[in-house]
Amino acid sequence: MRVLLVGGGDGVDIPYFPKNAQIVYLDAAKGMVNKAKRKFGKRPKITFIHEDINQYKEETKFDAVCLHFCLSVTSNPESMLKNAADLIKESGVLSIIDASDNKLKKTNRWVNTFTKWSMFDLNTNIERLIDRTELNLQLVEKNVLSEVKLFNSFIYKRI
Ligand SMILES: C[S@@+](CC[C@H](N)C(=O)[O-])C[C@H]1O[C@@H](n2cnc3c(N)ncnc32)[C@H](O)[C@@H]1O
Repeated sequence: MRVLLVGGGDGVDIPYFPKNAQIVYLDAAKGMVNKAKRKFGKRPKITFIHEDINQYKEETKFDAVCLHFCLSVTSNPESMLKNAADLIKESGVLSIIDASDNKLKKTNRWVNTFTKWSMFDLNTNIERLIDRTELNLQLVEKNVLSEVKLFNSFIYKRI
């Protein structure tokens, strides 16, 4: 299995992949790449790339692409989603974990005016974003991730 970890951050997801998975880790922030390398650089079958997903060129498609806590953080989620989805093989998988479907209470709306500049935009709606971009992606699984219900996980299949 060949996996692309987009916006891999400090590499928190890396230990959850099977040992034989070939991981391509990519992040636009040099500091994050260095951090992930320090933590997981000795893992076999891993490549670290300091690159913006919107500039990344790769001929060989991936079995799975992960966008975990990235779409609600990046400046252009549509472009990130399109570029990431283009790198998935037919019948391959897109895993998304992010803020979605939130009907924000007054306090959270207030909090979001700050967090959307520095962290997550809690008003992100993954399913609407996917519909808008008209990609060949079919939702196969959706779960609420946390007690606070602000974050969801989605598995899409490339058709
Ligand atoms: C909130 S962190 C999530 C990190 C990790 N995926 C996790 O689950 O903890 C978002 C990451 O996406 C990266 N990022 C944002 N826009 C990006 C882009 N256009 N291309 C590549 N990485 C990007 C940021 O540098 C940051 O490390």
